[in-house]
Amino acid sequence: MSRIVIVSNRTPAKGPAAGGLAVALKKVLAERQGFWFGWSGKLTDSPSPTAQIQDVDGLSVAQIDLTRDDHQAYYSGFANSILWPSFHLRLDLTTIESHWYEGYRRVNAQFAAALAKLLRPDDIIWVHDYHLIPLATELRRLGVRNRIGFYLHIPFPTPDALYAIPHHTDLMRDLSHYDLVGMQAKRDIAAFMEFAEHQAPPTFASSANHHVDFSRTEIVAFPIGSDPDAFASLSVSPAAQKMITRMRRSLGDQQLILGVDRLDYSKGLPQRVEAYEKFLAHNASFRRGVHFLQVAPPSRDTIKEYQATSETLDAVCGRVMGKFAEPDWQPLTYVKRAYGQPSLAGLYRLARVGLITPLRDGMNLVAHEYIGSQNPEDPGVLILSRFAGAAEIFPAALQVNPFDTDESAEAIRVALEMGLEERRARYEALMAAARKHNVGDWAEEFLAHLSRKPGDSAPQHDHIYLNSVA
Ligand code: G6P
Repeated sequence: MSRIVIVSNRTPAKGPAAGGLAVALKKVLAERQGFWFGWSGKLTDSPSPTAQIQDVDGLSVAQIDLTRDDHQAYYSGFANSILWPSFHLRLDLTTIESHWYEGYRRVNAQFAAALAKLLRPDDIIWVHDYHLIPLATELRRLGVRNRIGFYLHIPFPTPDALYAIPHHTDLMRDLSHYDLVGMQAKRDIAAFMEFAEHQAPPTFASSANHHVDFSRTEIVAFPIGSDPDAFASLSVSPAAQKMITRMRRSLGDQQLILGVDRLDYSKGLPQRVEAYEKFLAHNASFRRGVHFLQVAPPSRDTIKEYQATSETLDAVCGRVMGKFAEPDWQPLTYVKRAYGQPSLAGLYRLARVGLITPLRDGMNLVAHEYIGSQNPEDPGVLILSRFAGAAEIFPAALQVNPFDTDESAEAIRVALEMGLEERRARYEALMAAARKHNVGDWAEEFLAHLSRKPGDSAPQHDHIYLNSVA
């Protein structure tokens, strides 16, 4: 059986803190004798041409160091100040500096050069996320002929947002050098199709003869999930119970409304707090009977747009506190810190409402984890943004437009007043969908697809499947 090589910007760290995706991919690697390749997390003065290989809890991890300047251009610059905001349709938050693209390509070339030295001819290579779109091109340039797949963990942009990205045609051509490109949701495939069929219109700086040929690439939707049954077990573990006991002591009879997100502008956090503010304003009888907890670990905080989001959130939370808090009641708690999975599972289980309202998002694994952690006898209610890809698989959630804070405020009231029978019916449908899209099957399915030799018949699946779309 071929080895599997996973490539991503970040690599798994030692210890039990790994998320569902890392656990699922580690399992694949353990079964297929593979290794994980990525950035070491170290910044140096000169680039490392060769990867250092180390054992991380029984897993072989190959890592390279990056120079400070390259990392700034590749990660903070091109990946997170251009690709991330554009792919999330926030063109107003992009910063475009043309030299970042060179750094982005340079790092991808450095990844390829160090990785190529470690490859065997029948290895199957699986590249993850928007940091590494050009990796297949760079590997092919070095003569690598292996099967290479790519999975995009964030939404694919609409054509207009795509055209706002410098060198977007080159990036699309990079995608066409993969054998398989996996995306999260049907709407991502639809957006990609729109580009593939019409291609980029010419501008004064680029002519129209840059047609990208996708005829050798399969583009397939593989909606990623988490491991809901692992969360079901975790939520009744002693560590989760400890958190539940601690929270019950401080909450008393108040019902918990919970949000858990990286502190990122795509998550719609200020709008969420504003919706809660409206809920309290319109429903005086609920005051003192509810508490909103937002867990928001800081993220990418060297980038100014992230700093601004953090400040906006501070201000909105402060405003709600000032307006509604009383000496013996606080409407909300806001913690800028990360918690381990057992503590989160406890919080999820206790929360009567899971409030997940990103402005634009992919499959949102927090939604899956919230569902998995519910008590089947007395489950909470998931309020979910219709602009998360996860909305496609969770029609049983209360779906809201996160920009419409009146609608979200009303959804909070409906969720809190929902009877047990309806909560159970919705939970059962959500849990069935979360199980169907569990991360273990997702990884197997992607790899089964990628391992197929050209000419083999396609495996049975219910995903959108495009071939020869150009
Ligand atoms: C998103 C991306 C991941 C990324 C994660 C954390 O989920 O899809 O690729 O690793 O955010 O962001 P960070 O910039 O801290 O790696």
